Amino acid sequence: MTTYAIIGSGAIGSALAERFHAAGVDAVIANTRGPASLQPITDRFGSAVNAVELEQALRSDVLILAVPYDAVPEIAERKADWNGRTIVDATNAIDFPAFKPRDLGGRLSSEIVADLFPGAQLVKAFNTLPAAVLAAEPVKASGKRVLFLSGNYPEASKKVADLIARLGFAPSDLGSFKASGSLQHFGQPLVALNLLRD
Ligand SMILES: NC(=O)c1ccc[n+]([C@@H]2O[C@H](COP(=O)([O-])OP(=O)(O)OC[C@H]3O[C@@H](n4cnc5c(N)ncnc54)[C@H](OP(=O)(O)O)[C@@H]3O)[C@@H](O)[C@H]2O)c1
Repeated sequence: MTTYAIIGSGAIGSALAERFHAAGVDAVIANTRGPASLQPITDRFGSAVNAVELEQALRSDVLILAVPYDAVPEIAERKADWNGRTIVDATNAIDFPAFKPRDLGGRLSSEIVADLFPGAQLVKAFNTLPAAVLAAEPVKASGKRVLFLSGNYPEASKKVADLIARLGFAPSDLGSFKASGSLQHFGQPLVALNLLRD
């Protein structure tokens, strides 16, 4: 059975915990401060979402990065080989306080993140909706909330699309990073776009 970890317990990590719990999909969650700090989350979502140390969370099959973009390298450095893992990049590369896309010299942030996890297959997902929208019930009378994903490994994208569907959303796979370009990245048209598919 595929195991899932939510890395980060802030706005996006908490939103994901809520959706995993609502859908009855088991996951672990970790942050920098350890399981005791996650009690507010486990009090609400503990029947599906289990708080663990970061090291344990990083042993899961599918790791959702719900951390600041600048925190990704220190997570990646914890292992030399990420073979067999699916990394789901929910981060956005933002310059604060300007709240503008980071200048990455023309590269996509997810390509940079992918390079940090040798052996892993990276999929970009869960980065386009504000946390409060991601946390909300995705099934409405008029349709299911759309979640975009993209990545260079069709098998990994299928795995993440299946997870997105299990969580109640309508996955919309944009294909490879070459095909989708920067559409799903911060500052581009699909970010903050809240669509329902009927
Ligand atoms: N907020 C949104 O509406 C939104 C929407 C779309 C995408 N995003 C993106 O999603 C990501 C997370 O955003 P957020 O708003 O959820 O951030 P946040 O509320 O600041 O939470 C960040 C979380 O990351 C954890 N963290 C930081 N460094 C870590 C490390 N080295 N190892 C493990 N965990 C670490 C923090 O742990 P501690 O709790 O221990 O400090 C915290 O739980 C960002 O890249 C952001 O751009 C955010």
